[in-house]
Amino acid sequence: MHPLAIRFQELFGEAPEIIAAAPGRVNLIGEHVDFLDGFVLPFAISDLTTVAIARTSSNQIRVASLQKEGVISKVEANKLEPKSGEAWTRYPVGVLWSLGIKSGLDILVDGQVPLGAGLSSSAALECAVATAVNELFNLNLSLPELARATQRAENIYVGMPCGIMDQSVSLMATKGNALLLDTRDLSTEQIPFDIAPLGLELLVIDTQVHHALVDGGYAERRASCEKAVADLGITSLRDISVSEFVARKAELDEKTYLRAFHGVTEMQRVLDAVALLKAGDFVGFGEVVTEAHQSLRDNYTVSCPELDLAADIANKFGALGARMIGGGFGGSAIALIKAKDGELIKSEIKDGFMKAKFKNPRFFSALPSAGAAILN
Ligand code: GLA
Repeated sequence: MHPLAIRFQELFGEAPEIIAAAPGRVNLIGEHVDFLDGFVLPFAISDLTTVAIARTSSNQIRVASLQKEGVISKVEANKLEPKSGEAWTRYPVGVLWSLGIKSGLDILVDGQVPLGAGLSSSAALECAVATAVNELFNLNLSLPELARATQRAENIYVGMPCGIMDQSVSLMATKGNALLLDTRDLSTEQIPFDIAPLGLELLVIDTQVHHALVDGGYAERRASCEKAVADLGITSLRDISVSEFVARKAELDEKTYLRAFHGVTEMQRVLDAVALLKAGDFVGFGEVVTEAHQSLRDNYTVSCPELDLAADIANKFGALGARMIGGGFGGSAIALIKAKDGELIKSEIKDGFMKAKFKNPRFFSALPSAGAAILN
């Protein structure tokens, strides 16, 4: 029996009907463009959030988590309203709301994706629930449909205006590949990212600065990009070339211009990065990754001193490229490094953080892993 089934039985006095898991992610490139019809290139990490679920004859949804010993949170299944229930349960309950599930359920969560580290623990939870419920209720929804439903849960039920990258990769990732996702129509291409045989490693540096994306910075920047689209009278930042955008600079105020400039150039960087990967040019790829960091720092202004320092030190000690990932204001950076330089880079970053009086960073090595799956 799956260990989570045993815990479920102890807690709820019955066996779960279904167990599903979904991964967190890192994003190689394509940041803050997944609400702008842009391209993104994330991959799923091996850390998973697992959920066990059973239907009940009551009208209650009971949610418990192995990470919150002794708490069983309850909401009425037929009275789900956006933002109701305790904050941490809004992710799983929001997915039920989004999928139109109104029956009583018991849900037990085991979240092994580090929280607040910019590795999409929330999308992992949403996608694990969506995968389980899709099967349990025979909804027969496709992966793009599940991605849209989980994004809707986060946008409306949780109240975070995220794009669709995190949910899509958590659902659609395949082992060994990064996912080139066109967020305009959710079409995908699997891009091999098998770097270990080349002596390379993708180092994840968790700055331990915990971000709270639900507060304003993310939404405010997204609004700037939408303002640029309106001011320029175009359908999307996807539909304007970098040169045309630059030529129309005078039509935008400075802040709107810089933020949208990030969006337009970042979409191009993703395509450049994919071409370089396909050509096996990891040096060129690393340079584009570092350019993305500079744009997030200087144009989009979502970095922070810890992320900048982590990326700078990694590059100084031999990384091919490094940058912040995810929403920003904290969380993690990635560095594409030669595996043999790993210990040196980690110890230099630790030292640098200590000297700057930052928190002690944590390090992971990330390998492209599979997307959501039913486990029983
Ligand atoms: C967060 C959001 C994503 C995406 C990234 C930035 O992770 O959830 O939709 O916008 O930030 O690329």
